[in-house]
Amino acid sequence: MKITKICCIGAGYVGGPTMAVIAQKCPDIQVRVVDLNEQRIADWNDPNPENIPIYEPGLSEIVAEARGRNLFFSTDVDKAIDEAQMIFISVNTPTKTYGKGKGMAADLKYIELCARQIARVAKQNKIVVEKSTLPVRTAEAIKSILDNTGNGVQFQILSNPEFLAEGTAVTDLLNPDRILIGGDTTPEGEEAIEALLNVYANWVSKDRILTTNVWSSELSKLTANAFLAQRISSINAMSELCEKTGADVNEVAKAIGMDSRIGPKFLKASVGFGGSCFQKDILNLVYIAKSYGLSEVADYWEQVIVMNDHQKRRFSNKIVQTLYNTVADKKIAFLGWAFKKDTNDTRESAAIYVADDLINEQAKISVYDPKVSRTKMLADLNYLETRSEKDNNEFLNVFESAYQACNGAHAVAVLTEWDEFTTYDWQKIYDSMHKPAFVFDGRNILNAKELESIGFVYNGIGS
Ligand code: UDX
Ligand code: ADP
Repeated sequence: MKITKICCIGAGYVGGPTMAVIAQKCPDIQVRVVDLNEQRIADWNDPNPENIPIYEPGLSEIVAEARGRNLFFSTDVDKAIDEAQMIFISVNTPTKTYGKGKGMAADLKYIELCARQIARVAKQNKIVVEKSTLPVRTAEAIKSILDNTGNGVQFQILSNPEFLAEGTAVTDLLNPDRILIGGDTTPEGEEAIEALLNVYANWVSKDRILTTNVWSSELSKLTANAFLAQRISSINAMSELCEKTGADVNEVAKAIGMDSRIGPKFLKASVGFGGSCFQKDILNLVYIAKSYGLSEVADYWEQVIVMNDHQKRRFSNKIVQTLYNTVADKKIAFLGWAFKKDTNDTRESAAIYVADDLINEQAKISVYDPKVSRTKMLADLNYLETRSEKDNNEFLNVFESAYQACNGAHAVAVLTEWDEFTTYDWQKIYDSMHKPAFVFDGRNILNAKELESIGFVYNGIGS
């Protein structure tokens, strides 16, 4: 079966970049990305590709090339489903905020709505591809809805988890470590796997495309994220011990990373990991383990989150303690709000929690982030419901430049590792601050020696 028409439900951080790259690499395939959110679709269709709603290096160029040729963004979900042979589901699956599994399980209501819509609209056989990260055995639920509410047409469900990381989405998609496709081991299932495999084979060599059963594929995604997050929590745990013992976590990371069995990546101690995946997927894993009665497995993975929460809190505590145990009415400048560099995504960013802690201590937070708007920052704080929106509004100030944000500050805290922070005129920042001028480098990106020679009191993570 040759695929010529694809639809993707969900024009977010996963669906948008993934479909843009498929469209660029497969000019013969018509790719239609649909979303309920009218503003988001309008932004994807903005005549100036620089204004697309998701910031990813290299993405606007790809959108500019493919949009209108074989890449289309629209809110007409029914039409896109009807026309497509293959439908990707890339809607959000946040952690549940209500009911059973609150704070742990994935909320599958958006997935279920998609499945019901596909069932209602589809008049021909379709291949449905799960792109969103889902708990194991969700494909079964999707299949049940499709088969029981559909128009008698055949559906094949594939699991094709996304491994792209934000900030490097385009290069990850163009040159993936692997593509994983899970499907049924029936002849129809194998035919569907082959159809999707042939889409990726337009630019990915076949030895990098793995096929498995559906459950292995779904669980591999959760496992990959759990292992990656665990590395960060492990090195962050060591960072606290380094601070007590006089060891330097950067040196420790380098020394262990040169062991080829461990490897050098994902060993950067930080203020704590954020992003839409790690916490959510581990909580999901923990919930699944608990639901099978595997309490030791659940506790083991939950500790990765416990450590991460501790790391964020430890950072805000250190700021308060170092500033003579009070930050009330002091101005703390935040460099960065996004959960990592090169993205405008702020989901679960450590900055939100550190700001929340410091505002509890009555600090004034002044933020500069090159890609995040004030509206987004305020919404992030309000979402925590720690205090009134009016109070958040009062305690949070946002500036167009780092120099403005740092002007008159008692301390600067680096929350995101944006490259530009390392290129600043730090003497100029020092001159504009209260003395002693403190720097809390939550990403270990600044040159400690240089800052100390200017006169800063420098605090990194793990040294
Ligand atoms: C992650 C996975 O990497 C990706 O494969 C999956 O598809 C989605 O989840 P993402 O959340 O976009 O991607 O970013 P990632 O680069 O993994 O970073 C996650 C968080 O960990 C960030 O807050 C980052 O700053 C932090 N991090 C990462 C560290 O603190 N130290 C490190 O060494 C690496
Ligand atoms: P991710 O990081 O997983 O891509 P996002 O929240 O960025 O998550 O994107 C998910 C998108 O899915 C949102 O833009 C949301 O509006 C869209 N969405 C959710 N449910 C539906 C639905 N039933 N039909 C169409 N779009 C949907």
